[in-house]
Amino acid sequence: MPQRFSKDEYHAPTSELNLPNQAFNQWKIMSRMENLRALFAERRRGYSLPQGLYTDLAVHDFDIRAIFQRTWLQAGFESEIPTPGDYLTLKVGESSVVVVRNLDGVVGAFFNTCRHRGAQICSEKRGHAARLVCPYHHWSYDLRGRLVQAALMHEGFDRSNFTLRAIKVETVGGVIFICLGDSPPNFAPFRTALEPMIEPHELRKTKLVHTQTLIEHADWKLVMENARECYHCRAAHPQLMRSLRDFTTVRDTSGAPQQWETAFIQNCESTGLPTGEVIGEWYQIGRYALSDGMLSYTTDGKPAVAKTLGSVGNGDVGVMWWAIQPNGFNHVVGDYAFCFQVWPTGPGETVVTGKWFVHQEAVEGVDYKLERLTEVWTATNEQDASLAENLQRGVRSIAYTPGPYSRITEQLVSRLIDWYCDSAETFLRGT
Ligand code: FES
Ligand SMILES: [Fe+2]
Repeated sequence: MPQRFSKDEYHAPTSELNLPNQAFNQWKIMSRMENLRALFAERRRGYSLPQGLYTDLAVHDFDIRAIFQRTWLQAGFESEIPTPGDYLTLKVGESSVVVVRNLDGVVGAFFNTCRHRGAQICSEKRGHAARLVCPYHHWSYDLRGRLVQAALMHEGFDRSNFTLRAIKVETVGGVIFICLGDSPPNFAPFRTALEPMIEPHELRKTKLVHTQTLIEHADWKLVMENARECYHCRAAHPQLMRSLRDFTTVRDTSGAPQQWETAFIQNCESTGLPTGEVIGEWYQIGRYALSDGMLSYTTDGKPAVAKTLGSVGNGDVGVMWWAIQPNGFNHVVGDYAFCFQVWPTGPGETVVTGKWFVHQEAVEGVDYKLERLTEVWTATNEQDASLAENLQRGVRSIAYTPGPYSRITEQLVSRLIDWYCDSAETFLRGT
Protein backbone atom coordinates (compact mmCIF):
# COMPACT_ATOMS: atom_id res chain seq x y z
CA MET A 1 0.00 0.00 0.00
CA PRO A 2 1.25 3.53 -0.68
CA GLN A 3 2.31 5.39 2.41
CA ARG A 4 -0.31 7.59 4.03
CA PHE A 5 0.78 10.77 5.69
CA SER A 6 -0.96 12.13 8.74
CA LYS A 7 -1.71 15.83 8.69
CA ASP A 8 0.87 16.38 11.47
CA GLU A 9 3.60 14.72 9.51
CA TYR A 10 2.67 16.83 6.54
CA HIS A 11 2.52 20.22 8.22
CA ALA A 12 5.51 19.65 10.46
CA PRO A 13 7.83 16.99 9.02
CA THR A 14 9.95 15.46 11.75
CA SER A 15 13.21 16.80 10.38
CA GLU A 16 11.84 20.33 10.61
CA LEU A 17 10.16 20.16 14.02
CA ASN A 18 12.97 21.83 15.89
CA LEU A 19 13.71 24.59 13.46
CA PRO A 20 14.97 27.58 15.42
CA ASN A 21 13.38 30.62 13.93
CA GLN A 22 10.84 32.13 11.59
CA ALA A 23 13.46 33.17 9.10
CA PHE A 24 14.38 29.59 8.47
CA ASN A 25 10.70 28.69 8.09
CA GLN A 26 10.31 31.51 5.59
CA TRP A 27 13.29 30.22 3.67
CA LYS A 28 11.74 26.76 3.72
CA ILE A 29 8.48 28.07 2.22
CA MET A 30 10.40 29.96 -0.45
CA SER A 31 12.43 26.92 -1.34
CA ARG A 32 9.25 24.89 -1.67
CA MET A 33 7.84 27.55 -4.00
CA GLU A 34 11.04 27.48 -6.04
CA ASN A 35 10.73 23.73 -6.20
CA LEU A 36 7.18 24.03 -7.49
CA ARG A 37 8.17 26.65 -10.05
CA ALA A 38 10.88 24.31 -11.28
CA LEU A 39 8.42 21.44 -11.57
CA PHE A 40 5.98 23.52 -13.64
CA ALA A 41 8.83 24.80 -15.79
CA GLU A 42 9.91 21.23 -16.44
CA ARG A 43 6.43 20.14 -17.49
CA ARG A 44 5.91 19.28 -21.16
CA ARG A 45 2.56 20.08 -22.79
CA GLY A 46 0.65 16.96 -23.89
CA TYR A 47 2.48 14.82 -21.35
CA SER A 48 1.61 13.65 -17.86
CA LEU A 49 3.06 15.81 -15.11
CA PRO A 50 6.55 15.65 -13.63
CA GLN A 51 6.61 13.19 -10.76
CA GLY A 52 6.86 15.79 -8.00
CA LEU A 53 3.53 17.34 -8.98
CA TYR A 54 1.87 14.03 -8.09
CA THR A 55 3.99 13.09 -5.10
CA ASP A 56 5.65 16.09 -3.42
CA LEU A 57 4.24 16.70 0.06
CA ALA A 58 4.04 20.44 -0.55
CA VAL A 59 1.85 19.98 -3.63
CA HIS A 60 -1.30 19.14 -1.71
CA ASP A 61 -1.19 22.42 0.19
CA PHE A 62 -0.30 24.28 -2.98
CA ASP A 63 -3.18 22.74 -4.94
CA ILE A 64 -5.66 23.70 -2.24
CA ARG A 65 -4.46 27.30 -2.25
CA ALA A 66 -3.83 27.73 -5.97
CA ILE A 67 -6.75 25.70 -7.31
CA PHE A 68 -9.46 24.62 -4.87
CA GLN A 69 -9.66 27.93 -3.00
CA ARG A 70 -9.91 29.96 -6.20
CA THR A 71 -12.12 28.09 -8.66
CA TRP A 72 -15.77 27.10 -8.90
CA LEU A 73 -16.52 23.83 -7.15
CA GLN A 74 -19.68 21.81 -7.38
CA ALA A 75 -21.04 21.68 -3.82
CA GLY A 76 -24.13 19.54 -4.34
CA PHE A 77 -27.69 19.51 -5.66
CA GLU A 78 -30.32 21.91 -4.35
CA SER A 79 -32.50 18.91 -3.62
CA GLU A 80 -30.06 17.92 -0.86
CA ILE A 81 -31.26 20.96 1.10
CA PRO A 82 -34.86 21.37 -0.07
CA THR A 83 -36.33 23.21 2.95
CA PRO A 84 -35.36 26.55 4.53
CA GLY A 85 -32.95 25.75 7.35
CA ASP A 86 -31.54 22.66 5.64
CA TYR A 87 -27.77 22.72 5.33
CA LEU A 88 -24.87 20.59 4.21
CA THR A 89 -21.21 20.92 5.09
CA LEU A 90 -18.11 20.10 3.12
CA LYS A 91 -14.41 20.67 3.47
CA VAL A 92 -12.13 22.43 1.03
CA GLY A 93 -8.65 21.72 2.30
CA GLU A 94 -8.77 22.62 5.98
CA SER A 95 -11.70 25.00 5.56
CA SER A 96 -15.15 23.76 6.44
CA VAL A 97 -18.02 25.31 4.51
CA VAL A 98 -21.73 25.32 5.31
CA VAL A 99 -24.21 25.58 2.44
CA VAL A 100 -27.65 26.56 3.72
CA ARG A 101 -31.09 27.43 2.38
CA ASN A 102 -32.42 30.59 4.02
CA LEU A 103 -36.01 31.50 4.91
CA ASP A 104 -36.55 33.01 1.44
CA GLY A 105 -35.53 29.72 -0.13
CA VAL A 106 -32.24 31.13 -1.41
CA VAL A 107 -29.07 29.03 -1.11
CA GLY A 108 -26.10 30.72 0.55
CA ALA A 109 -22.71 29.50 1.75
CA PHE A 110 -20.44 30.55 4.59
CA PHE A 111 -17.19 29.54 6.15
CA ASN A 112 -18.23 27.23 8.98
CA THR A 113 -16.00 29.08 11.44
CA CYS A 114 -17.38 31.16 14.29
CA ARG A 115 -16.53 34.84 14.31
CA HIS A 116 -15.95 34.73 18.07
CA ARG A 117 -12.87 32.57 18.56
CA GLY A 118 -13.13 30.41 15.52
CA ALA A 119 -14.83 27.20 16.58
CA GLN A 120 -16.46 25.09 13.89
CA ILE A 121 -20.19 25.73 14.02
CA CYS A 122 -21.93 22.84 12.24
CA SER A 123 -20.30 19.48 12.76
CA GLU A 124 -22.73 17.22 10.88
CA LYS A 125 -22.51 16.43 7.17
CA ARG A 126 -26.05 17.71 6.79
CA GLY A 127 -28.81 18.93 9.05
CA HIS A 128 -31.61 21.38 9.68
CA ALA A 129 -31.48 24.45 11.92
CA ALA A 130 -33.48 27.62 12.52
CA ARG A 131 -30.19 29.31 13.39
CA LEU A 132 -26.56 28.29 13.14
CA VAL A 133 -25.41 28.10 16.75
CA CYS A 134 -21.76 27.77 17.69
CA PRO A 135 -21.38 24.92 20.19
CA TYR A 136 -18.65 26.75 22.16
CA HIS A 137 -20.19 29.95 23.63
CA HIS A 138 -23.44 29.77 21.68
CA TRP A 139 -23.10 32.73 19.42
CA SER A 140 -26.09 32.37 17.06
CA TYR A 141 -26.25 33.28 13.41
CA ASP A 142 -29.36 33.54 11.26
CA LEU A 143 -29.58 31.70 7.95
CA ARG A 144 -28.06 34.70 6.19
CA GLY A 145 -24.98 34.47 8.41
CA ARG A 146 -25.82 37.50 10.56
CA LEU A 147 -24.89 37.29 14.22
CA VAL A 148 -28.20 37.62 16.06
CA GLN A 149 -27.25 36.58 19.56
CA ALA A 150 -24.04 36.77 21.60
CA ALA A 151 -24.61 36.62 25.34
CA LEU A 152 -22.54 38.46 27.93
CA MET A 153 -20.55 40.59 25.54
CA HIS A 154 -19.36 43.97 26.80
CA GLU A 155 -20.89 47.37 26.10
CA GLY A 156 -19.95 48.70 22.69
CA PHE A 157 -19.75 45.25 21.15
CA ASP A 158 -21.44 45.51 17.77
CA ARG A 159 -22.91 42.25 16.45
CA SER A 160 -23.11 43.61 12.94
CA ASN A 161 -19.32 43.46 12.67
CA PHE A 162 -19.28 39.70 13.15
CA THR A 163 -21.26 38.23 10.29
CA LEU A 164 -20.14 34.81 9.06
CA ARG A 165 -17.70 35.09 6.18
CA ALA A 166 -19.73 34.57 3.02
CA ILE A 167 -18.71 32.38 0.12
CA LYS A 168 -19.81 33.01 -3.45
CA VAL A 169 -22.66 30.80 -4.62
CA GLU A 170 -24.32 30.17 -7.98
CA THR A 171 -27.07 27.72 -8.77
CA VAL A 172 -27.97 26.37 -12.20
CA GLY A 173 -30.78 23.92 -12.90
CA GLY A 174 -30.82 22.74 -9.29
CA VAL A 175 -27.06 22.37 -8.88
CA ILE A 176 -25.04 24.42 -6.38
CA PHE A 177 -21.59 25.81 -7.14
CA ILE A 178 -19.33 27.67 -4.69
CA CYS A 179 -16.11 29.62 -4.95
CA LEU A 180 -14.04 30.41 -1.87
CA GLY A 181 -11.95 33.03 -3.65
CA ASP A 182 -12.65 36.74 -4.02
CA SER A 183 -12.17 36.74 -7.80
CA PRO A 184 -13.96 33.70 -9.18
CA PRO A 185 -13.68 32.72 -12.82
CA ASN A 186 -16.49 34.10 -15.01
CA PHE A 187 -19.53 31.95 -14.34
CA ALA A 188 -21.83 33.43 -17.01
CA PRO A 189 -20.69 31.36 -20.03
CA PHE A 190 -21.02 28.17 -18.01
CA ARG A 191 -24.54 29.11 -16.94
CA THR A 192 -25.51 29.99 -20.52
CA ALA A 193 -24.28 26.63 -21.78
CA LEU A 194 -25.57 24.44 -18.95
CA GLU A 195 -29.00 25.94 -18.29
CA PRO A 196 -30.83 24.85 -21.46
CA MET A 197 -29.27 21.40 -21.27
CA ILE A 198 -30.05 20.73 -17.64
CA GLU A 199 -33.43 22.40 -17.10
CA PRO A 200 -35.57 19.76 -18.88
CA HIS A 201 -34.37 17.18 -16.35
CA GLU A 202 -35.90 19.14 -13.43
CA LEU A 203 -33.19 18.20 -10.97
CA ARG A 204 -34.77 20.40 -8.28
CA LYS A 205 -37.49 17.75 -8.10
CA THR A 206 -35.11 14.96 -7.18
CA LYS A 207 -33.96 13.45 -3.92
CA LEU A 208 -30.65 12.00 -2.85
CA VAL A 209 -31.08 8.29 -2.20
CA HIS A 210 -27.56 6.96 -1.93
CA THR A 211 -24.03 8.22 -1.28
CA GLN A 212 -20.83 6.25 -1.78
CA THR A 213 -17.66 7.57 -0.14
CA LEU A 214 -14.25 6.27 -1.14
CA ILE A 215 -10.95 7.32 0.39
CA GLU A 216 -8.50 6.86 -2.43
CA HIS A 217 -4.74 6.75 -1.88
CA ALA A 218 -3.99 8.85 -4.90
CA ASP A 219 -3.38 12.50 -5.69
CA TRP A 220 -6.61 14.22 -6.80
CA LYS A 221 -5.12 14.95 -10.23
CA LEU A 222 -4.61 11.26 -10.90
CA VAL A 223 -8.20 10.59 -9.80
CA MET A 224 -9.49 13.29 -12.14
CA GLU A 225 -7.22 12.32 -15.01
CA ASN A 226 -8.65 8.83 -14.80
CA ALA A 227 -12.15 10.33 -14.76
CA ARG A 228 -11.48 12.33 -17.92
CA GLU A 229 -10.80 9.49 -20.31
CA CYS A 230 -12.39 6.27 -21.43
CA TYR A 231 -9.21 4.77 -22.86
CA HIS A 232 -9.36 2.32 -19.95
CA CYS A 233 -13.14 1.74 -19.98
CA ARG A 234 -13.36 -1.32 -22.21
CA ALA A 235 -10.89 -3.27 -20.10
CA ALA A 236 -11.86 -1.94 -16.69
CA HIS A 237 -15.61 -1.27 -16.66
CA PRO A 238 -17.61 -4.28 -17.89
CA GLN A 239 -20.82 -3.10 -16.19
CA LEU A 240 -20.64 0.48 -17.44
CA MET A 241 -19.71 -0.49 -20.98
CA ARG A 242 -22.98 -2.32 -21.48
CA SER A 243 -24.73 1.04 -21.75
CA LEU A 244 -22.04 3.70 -22.28
CA ARG A 245 -21.25 4.47 -25.90
CA ASP A 246 -17.59 5.38 -25.91
CA PHE A 247 -17.01 8.03 -28.55
CA THR A 248 -13.40 8.55 -27.71
CA THR A 249 -12.15 5.17 -28.81
CA VAL A 250 -14.76 4.30 -31.44
CA ARG A 251 -14.85 7.05 -34.00
CA ASP A 252 -15.88 7.15 -37.60
CA THR A 253 -12.87 8.91 -39.08
CA SER A 254 -14.92 10.25 -42.02
CA GLY A 255 -16.63 12.66 -39.61
CA ALA A 256 -20.00 12.00 -41.27
CA PRO A 257 -22.90 11.62 -38.83
CA GLN A 258 -23.81 8.02 -38.37
CA GLN A 259 -27.32 6.64 -38.53
CA TRP A 260 -27.60 6.11 -34.78
CA GLU A 261 -26.37 9.64 -34.15
CA THR A 262 -28.88 11.22 -36.52
CA ALA A 263 -31.68 9.16 -35.01
CA PHE A 264 -30.62 10.19 -31.50
CA ILE A 265 -30.54 13.89 -32.35
CA GLN A 266 -33.94 13.70 -34.08
CA ASN A 267 -35.46 11.96 -31.06
CA CYS A 268 -34.04 14.56 -28.69
CA GLU A 269 -35.28 17.42 -30.84
CA SER A 270 -38.76 15.91 -30.96
CA THR A 271 -38.91 16.04 -27.17
CA GLY A 272 -37.33 19.50 -26.90
CA LEU A 273 -33.98 18.34 -25.60
CA PRO A 274 -30.96 20.29 -26.82
CA THR A 275 -28.00 18.27 -28.02
CA GLY A 276 -24.42 19.17 -28.81
CA GLU A 277 -21.30 19.81 -26.84
CA VAL A 278 -19.80 22.91 -25.22
CA ILE A 279 -16.21 22.86 -24.06
CA GLY A 280 -15.12 25.82 -21.96
CA GLU A 281 -11.95 26.65 -20.13
CA TRP A 282 -12.99 24.86 -16.93
CA TYR A 283 -16.06 22.88 -17.96
CA GLN A 284 -17.50 20.50 -20.53
CA ILE A 285 -21.19 19.96 -21.23
CA GLY A 286 -22.92 17.64 -23.68
CA ARG A 287 -25.64 15.16 -24.46
CA TYR A 288 -24.69 11.83 -25.97
CA ALA A 289 -26.39 8.68 -27.14
CA LEU A 290 -26.09 5.59 -25.00
CA SER A 291 -25.40 2.24 -26.65
CA ASP A 292 -28.04 0.92 -29.04
CA GLY A 293 -31.30 0.17 -27.28
CA MET A 294 -30.05 1.35 -23.86
CA LEU A 295 -32.08 3.82 -21.83
CA SER A 296 -30.12 3.93 -18.59
CA TYR A 297 -26.87 3.04 -16.86
CA THR A 298 -28.04 -0.35 -15.69
CA THR A 299 -26.67 -3.76 -16.52
CA ASP A 300 -29.55 -4.46 -18.93
CA GLY A 301 -30.00 -0.87 -20.13
CA LYS A 302 -33.58 -0.69 -18.92
CA PRO A 303 -34.50 2.10 -16.49
CA ALA A 304 -33.87 1.40 -12.82
CA VAL A 305 -36.56 3.83 -11.71
CA ALA A 306 -40.18 3.75 -12.83
CA LYS A 307 -40.63 7.53 -12.52
CA THR A 308 -38.60 9.43 -15.10
CA LEU A 309 -36.87 12.71 -14.31
CA GLY A 310 -38.37 15.90 -15.71
CA SER A 311 -40.21 16.46 -18.95
CA VAL A 312 -38.20 14.12 -21.11
CA GLY A 313 -40.77 12.17 -23.08
CA ASN A 314 -40.27 8.44 -22.83
CA GLY A 315 -36.97 8.75 -20.96
CA ASP A 316 -34.89 8.05 -24.04
CA VAL A 317 -32.61 11.02 -23.46
CA GLY A 318 -29.18 9.48 -23.87
CA VAL A 319 -26.98 10.97 -21.20
CA MET A 320 -26.75 14.64 -20.35
CA TRP A 321 -23.26 15.13 -18.97
CA TRP A 322 -21.31 17.97 -17.47
CA ALA A 323 -17.94 18.13 -15.81
CA ILE A 324 -16.06 20.93 -14.14
CA GLN A 325 -12.40 21.34 -13.36
CA PRO A 326 -11.29 20.53 -10.77
CA ASN A 327 -13.81 18.54 -8.84
CA GLY A 328 -16.25 16.35 -10.67
CA PHE A 329 -18.60 15.07 -13.34
CA ASN A 330 -22.29 14.25 -13.58
CA HIS A 331 -24.40 11.93 -15.70
CA VAL A 332 -28.16 12.41 -16.06
CA VAL A 333 -30.10 9.65 -17.77
CA GLY A 334 -33.87 9.42 -18.14
CA ASP A 335 -34.47 7.90 -14.74
CA TYR A 336 -31.65 9.06 -12.45
CA ALA A 337 -28.75 11.42 -11.97
CA PHE A 338 -25.32 10.38 -10.80
CA CYS A 339 -22.81 12.88 -9.44
CA PHE A 340 -19.09 12.24 -8.82
CA GLN A 341 -17.07 14.65 -6.70
CA VAL A 342 -13.44 14.77 -5.74
CA TRP A 343 -12.03 16.33 -2.55
CA PRO A 344 -8.27 16.29 -1.88
CA THR A 345 -7.76 15.53 1.81
CA GLY A 346 -3.99 15.20 2.09
CA PRO A 347 -0.85 14.41 0.13
CA GLY A 348 -1.70 11.40 -1.99
CA GLU A 349 -5.20 11.13 -0.52
CA THR A 350 -8.51 12.01 -2.16
CA VAL A 351 -12.06 11.51 -0.97
CA VAL A 352 -14.45 10.63 -3.78
CA THR A 353 -18.19 10.88 -3.27
CA GLY A 354 -20.74 9.32 -5.59
CA LYS A 355 -24.35 10.44 -5.22
CA TRP A 356 -27.50 9.02 -6.79
CA PHE A 357 -30.64 11.13 -7.27
CA VAL A 358 -34.10 9.94 -8.34
CA HIS A 359 -37.48 11.62 -8.79
CA GLN A 360 -38.58 13.07 -5.44
CA GLU A 361 -41.75 10.97 -5.49
CA ALA A 362 -40.09 7.68 -6.38
CA VAL A 363 -40.50 5.13 -3.61
CA GLU A 364 -37.82 2.57 -2.85
CA GLY A 365 -39.08 -0.97 -3.24
CA VAL A 366 -41.99 0.26 -5.37
CA ASP A 367 -40.45 2.44 -8.10
CA TYR A 368 -36.86 1.29 -7.78
CA LYS A 369 -34.53 -1.09 -6.03
CA LEU A 370 -31.46 0.59 -4.57
CA GLU A 371 -29.12 -2.24 -5.48
CA ARG A 372 -30.10 -2.16 -9.12
CA LEU A 373 -30.03 1.65 -9.24
CA THR A 374 -26.52 1.86 -7.82
CA GLU A 375 -24.97 -1.29 -9.28
CA VAL A 376 -23.21 0.15 -12.33
CA TRP A 377 -21.66 3.29 -10.82
CA THR A 378 -20.74 1.57 -7.55
CA ALA A 379 -18.76 -1.01 -9.49
CA THR A 380 -17.32 1.64 -11.81
CA ASN A 381 -16.17 3.86 -8.94
CA GLU A 382 -14.50 0.97 -7.18
CA GLN A 383 -12.77 -0.04 -10.39
CA ASP A 384 -11.63 3.54 -10.93
CA ALA A 385 -10.38 3.79 -7.34
CA SER A 386 -8.15 0.76 -7.97
CA LEU A 387 -6.88 2.25 -11.20
CA ALA A 388 -6.07 5.60 -9.58
CA GLU A 389 -4.27 3.98 -6.64
CA ASN A 390 -2.34 1.72 -8.95
CA LEU A 391 -1.39 4.73 -11.03
CA GLN A 392 -0.16 6.55 -7.91
CA ARG A 393 1.96 3.53 -6.93
CA GLY A 394 3.61 3.45 -10.34
CA VAL A 395 4.15 7.19 -10.44
CA ARG A 396 6.06 7.06 -7.12
CA SER A 397 8.75 4.83 -8.66
CA ILE A 398 12.17 6.22 -9.59
CA ALA A 399 11.40 4.74 -13.01
CA TYR A 400 8.52 7.16 -13.68
CA THR A 401 8.87 9.70 -16.44
CA PRO A 402 5.99 11.75 -17.89
CA GLY A 403 4.29 9.98 -20.81
CA PRO A 404 2.23 11.28 -23.75
CA TYR A 405 -1.54 11.64 -23.60
CA SER A 406 -3.29 10.16 -26.62
CA ARG A 407 -4.57 12.92 -28.89
CA ILE A 408 -7.43 10.59 -29.80
CA THR A 409 -8.59 9.28 -26.46
CA GLU A 410 -7.11 11.55 -23.81
CA GLN A 411 -7.83 15.05 -25.03
CA LEU A 412 -9.88 15.90 -21.97
CA VAL A 413 -7.07 14.72 -19.70
CA SER A 414 -4.71 16.95 -21.59
CA ARG A 415 -7.11 19.89 -21.23
CA LEU A 416 -7.45 19.24 -17.50
CA ILE A 417 -3.69 19.27 -17.03
CA ASP A 418 -3.23 22.35 -19.23
CA TRP A 419 -5.87 24.12 -17.14
CA TYR A 420 -4.23 22.97 -13.92
CA CYS A 421 -0.79 24.17 -14.97
CA ASP A 422 -2.09 27.48 -16.35
CA SER A 423 -4.03 28.12 -13.12
CA ALA A 424 -1.04 27.17 -10.99
CA GLU A 425 1.33 29.36 -12.96
CA THR A 426 -1.06 32.32 -12.72
CA PHE A 427 -1.12 31.80 -8.96
CA LEU A 428 2.66 31.52 -8.77
CA ARG A 429 3.09 34.75 -10.73
CA GLY A 430 1.03 36.49 -8.07
CA THR A 431 3.03 35.18 -5.09
S1 FES B 1 -16.05 30.33 19.42
FE1 FES B 1 -18.07 30.37 18.76
S2 FES B 1 -19.15 31.24 20.36
FE2 FES B 1 -17.12 31.22 21.08
FE1 LIG C 1 -13.08 4.75 -15.31
